[in-house]
Amino acid sequence: MALIEVVGQGFVGLTTAMLAADAGHEVVGIEVDPDRAEMLRNGKPPFCEPGVADHLRRLLGQGRLTIEGPGYRSEEPAVLIVAVPTPTRPEGRADDAAVVSSLATFWDQRRHELVVVRSTLTPGRSAILMSSFPALRESYVHWPEFLNQGRALRESRRPDRVVVGTGSPRAAGAMAVLLKSFGFDPELPRWHGVMEAEAVKQFSNAALAANQVLGAEIARLCERAGMDARSVLSSVALDSRLSPELLGPKPPLVDSCLRKDLTALIASVQDEDAARILSASLGQAEAQRLAATGRVLRHVRALPRDAGVLIVGAGFAPGVSDTKGSLLWDLLPPLCTSRVEVWDPYAEDGALAWMGPAVAVASLGDALARASVVVLLVDHPEVYEVPWSQVLAALADRGGVVLDYCAMFHPAGTEDPLVLQVVHGWGTSSGCRLCVE
Ligand SMILES: NC(=O)c1ccc[n+]([C@@H]2O[C@H](COP(=O)([O-])OP(=O)(O)OC[C@H]3O[C@@H](n4cnc5c(N)ncnc54)[C@H](O)[C@@H]3O)[C@@H](O)[C@H]2O)c1
Repeated sequence: MALIEVVGQGFVGLTTAMLAADAGHEVVGIEVDPDRAEMLRNGKPPFCEPGVADHLRRLLGQGRLTIEGPGYRSEEPAVLIVAVPTPTRPEGRADDAAVVSSLATFWDQRRHELVVVRSTLTPGRSAILMSSFPALRESYVHWPEFLNQGRALRESRRPDRVVVGTGSPRAAGAMAVLLKSFGFDPELPRWHGVMEAEAVKQFSNAALAANQVLGAEIARLCERAGMDARSVLSSVALDSRLSPELLGPKPPLVDSCLRKDLTALIASVQDEDAARILSASLGQAEAQRLAATGRVLRHVRALPRDAGVLIVGAGFAPGVSDTKGSLLWDLLPPLCTSRVEVWDPYAEDGALAWMGPAVAVASLGDALARASVVVLLVDHPEVYEVPWSQVLAALADRGGVVLDYCAMFHPAGTEDPLVLQVVHGWGTSSGCRLCVE
């Protein structure tokens, strides 16, 4: 079993580190953020997902995973895995400076026979990296990650696909051994050139984005024609090539990666026809999000200025802690003159610290008792436990309203002027998850 060093201990890095430790490797997780490193050492993962904290504590206790800071150095041969962020730069391209600095700091040609980059890279970026570090070519592999937040640990053990890009037979051999040690079927990895592997990741996200946007448009058309969008789309999604998750009900591209990766692809693609179709998806997604924000604002502005707004949920899916692509960030700037509270017990530490005048609150019940406008952004499990009949009755007394982004409420509820569907298309749908008597 090898020593494996994983740079970056976020969603992708920690999940990969845990996968390697489970397989019996000795793993060092390298994290530059001292607070995050300390939290991890104390067994607290930086994201929320059932079972991850217990599993992390077990691996730390068994000494199979240790967490180190930026000063970490070793002399032992090891596999180096890089899983640091590649955020969007102002002009849209992905910023891979953290990948470059991680390699400059932690890659040691003498002891790293295999270097695996898991960060998402725009097609062609690995080649540029390798031109900065020519000796890397022989040991370089790109292994893009396709994880779904909320089920990252499970999916890392049983991935639907393993896409590997390398131009080096030696690195390919070492990577095949590593993947086998993780318990993956030797038939599972799909071997590509490096740029092809980068492209598979980005084009997969482009395909997901286009489907989400189309799903939202179909829902809108159904609503306009008086059809039940949920019923139509759930039958459309029975096609095994599609999935109900892709098709709604929510505005598209609200997770942390789809918008970022699509934006990076558009900024880098030098082909007008391809740029046109990618930009159409992104542009329509922005229009759909904007329409939803507009609906919320119309209701807030109709109320007295001191009417409190409560935003329920700050992530992009129930139980998910990542707030990067959240609709919250669309809503806060135009709501800056209102009194806004935000409830989300799952949001990652510090994520809600920069909300301007908006305030994070701990008790959903207390916040519901104060609010005049309740914006349901995410249907976390706790939201189903709210005594909605009482809440709606109290809201009615205050002249308030519930704006439902998640299509949680029954159409009978949505016909109630107190509860309004925000996302176009879901106002006529049945198959509710929440009925208000
Ligand atoms: N989160 C996802 O769902 C997901 C899915 C697929 C791919 N990806 C891609 O994986 C990469 C990592 O994403 P993530 O979501 O894990 O990010 P993250 O923000 O959750 O974690 C990244 C970690 O790296 C640390 N870090 C930053 N610079 C560093 C450096 N120079 N050295 C050491 N640590 C450093 C950060 O402090 C943070 O802890 C990105 O390229 C992302 O696009 C993410």
